[in-house]
Amino acid sequence: MNGIKQLILVSLTLLSAPFFAQPRGAVYLNEKKTIEERVEDALSRMTLEEKVAMCHAQSKFSSPGVSRLGIPEVWTSDGPHGIRAEVFWDEWNNAGWTNDSCIAFPALTCLAATWNPEMAELYGQSIGEEARYRNKSVLLGPGVNIYRTPLNGRNFEYMGEDPYLSSTMVVPYIQGVQKNGVAACVKHFALNNQEIDRDNINVNVSDRALYEIYLPAFKAAIQKGGAWAIMGSYNKYKGEHCCHNQFLLNDILRKEWGFDGVVISDWGGVHDTKQAIYNGLDMEFGSWTNGMNWGTSNAYDNYYLAQPFLKLIQSGEVKEEEVNKKVRNILRLIFRTVMDKNRPLGSFGTEEHALAGRKIAEEGIVLLQNNRNVLPIDLTKVKKITVIGENAVKRMTIGGGSSSLKVKYEQSPLEGIKKRVGQNIKVTYVQGYESPAVVEQDVKGAKAPEKKVIDVERLKKEAISAARDADVVLFFGGLNKNENQDSEGADRKEYGLPYGQDELISALAKVNPNLVVVLLTGNAVAMPWVKEVPAIVEGWYSGTEAGNAIASVLVGDVNPSGKLPFTIPVSLKDNGAIALGEYPGNGKEQTYNEGIFVGYRWTDKQKIKPLFSFGHGLSYTSFVYGKVEIDKNILSPMSNLNVSIKIKNTGRRAGSEIVQLYISDLKSSLPRPVKELKGFKKVYLNAGEEQVVSFTIDKEALQFFDDRKHEWIAEPGKFEALIGASSTDIRGKVSFELK
Ligand code: BGC
Repeated sequence: MNGIKQLILVSLTLLSAPFFAQPRGAVYLNEKKTIEERVEDALSRMTLEEKVAMCHAQSKFSSPGVSRLGIPEVWTSDGPHGIRAEVFWDEWNNAGWTNDSCIAFPALTCLAATWNPEMAELYGQSIGEEARYRNKSVLLGPGVNIYRTPLNGRNFEYMGEDPYLSSTMVVPYIQGVQKNGVAACVKHFALNNQEIDRDNINVNVSDRALYEIYLPAFKAAIQKGGAWAIMGSYNKYKGEHCCHNQFLLNDILRKEWGFDGVVISDWGGVHDTKQAIYNGLDMEFGSWTNGMNWGTSNAYDNYYLAQPFLKLIQSGEVKEEEVNKKVRNILRLIFRTVMDKNRPLGSFGTEEHALAGRKIAEEGIVLLQNNRNVLPIDLTKVKKITVIGENAVKRMTIGGGSSSLKVKYEQSPLEGIKKRVGQNIKVTYVQGYESPAVVEQDVKGAKAPEKKVIDVERLKKEAISAARDADVVLFFGGLNKNENQDSEGADRKEYGLPYGQDELISALAKVNPNLVVVLLTGNAVAMPWVKEVPAIVEGWYSGTEAGNAIASVLVGDVNPSGKLPFTIPVSLKDNGAIALGEYPGNGKEQTYNEGIFVGYRWTDKQKIKPLFSFGHGLSYTSFVYGKVEIDKNILSPMSNLNVSIKIKNTGRRAGSEIVQLYISDLKSSLPRPVKELKGFKKVYLNAGEEQVVSFTIDKEALQFFDDRKHEWIAEPGKFEALIGASSTDIRGKVSFELK
């Protein structure tokens, strides 16, 4: 009898535990309470084990909640360009779901090339809806590492070389994503500017370059965009891995910028328990990145922030407050996302998203050169178009590392062109060149492709003969998402185009004067044939609707309006990091000796003429810039200046121009770039229309980071405001003084 009584009592206690642990009306469930009250209440109900569990992964992309309390798990997903396919619990391979094919949006370089914050908002909103529908709490993107050299394999995932441009574009992206109750996780913080030796390279950089070049986009993402999460990078800074870095995470991110979100490690970026505890990290993901296959048994328990963390607290060596700090941040993220009852429902794989991607691509495509007005193709005159090049048909949404996608569809340039020009124009396709086949990414059991000898000469001959009698030849080349191209984990090995494309392009130019080279890349490439080819287009990686977008630009349905978010130097020696012999370091250390002189700041300083400049991009119409006007010549702390200029569309079709404002500090106590971008506006003008474009210049636009005082200062003296169509095409300037 006693035994039975005891059993009933024990069962009752067990049954009632969750009930009492989660009373109805608990503050953390009460939406009317502030998030901070809810965080504290939830935290007070959690056991130490539950708290520690929240600080590290339980699978490839998720971390546990507290099921007993109804606190949901955190589900993350790559990445910046679309919602990655579901993978197995503990493997990188696709899990084979049939309902996870997403819309691929253009690569972030293409978004940056739109120079249009409205496009960034549209991008963020659309990808955020996709993430929400798939019930993700955290989107692992966007990436804003600065484009330091054209060899970085991951440049395509970032927003170019200029801190002002990337700062301006990242903010609406984040706001768009987070409207959906999905946290944007801006990455990779910080100084992850190369893939070579990314796990260990220690970056030595001056405070000026850090604050003026490498941090502003992150700061804008946090302070203006309000990002709820940030990802630490793989590399080291000041000898500490950036996923647990006192200077970056505690001193700058938390103290200087007041970040109250979650710091997530890059996958496998954690290396030390004590540093992970004290140096600002909240959540550890991907240690022993092959999870249970490569790690010791129970890999997740062995994470630096798992059992080792728990034991240190239990032994009293580490205070429980350390885990509380992390869990507060994680709970805050959960309340902002999955536990927000007003979270919209999202949508996935929709036509609306595909069309948003197309619009962004159409605005981002850059017309680099258009001699003899070879473009747009006049469909009333052309009878035969020859399309040449592997990139006209290659899938570009697959590969490249963590940004690889399983898409609902991806329209190739060849398909897009055929569809647009219709039956009456003959479109012939020949491959022209071939890249070696690679194992398909993330596919379980994918077999290594058969090694085959590529007959370069035969492919070239076929292409030349097909090009001869065409009215227009469209060559689609560039890079791709294979290793050592535009791909994560490794850098490019050469600046030139791979697979014999340079020779092929020159040969094609000899047999047909109407050759258009369309580059699909996320990076600058050498163009030794630039003078032989009349038209060159940077078509980027444009996602699901790539084919339609490029076709509409080539035939002129869309007037190109993108401009380069990075400099294309003639050769690698025109890039600062490479000219100074500092890239890629010695395997352990990498010193950024070019300092603040990155991209056009370097070419300006050295008086090097780029092949195509930062901010360059042509249109099918022409714009005339008037005289630069300034409302007063003295800027004081009390009142800002206004600079304006009249822009007129003098051509015969409507189009958009990106008007750029650069500031030049004529005399300063520390060296400064010749000029720096401090404003831009994209204006749409009908044929013949004119508009006044104006910019406000405040003190902030004149500042530099004085590393002697560790503060931003604007020194009184003379400045110039330069207005131009690119960084080297300045159309007018005015001087003013800061009192
Ligand atoms: C990448 C991150 C990515 C993560 C998860 C890492 O290798 O650097 O950008 O979000 O993997 O796939």
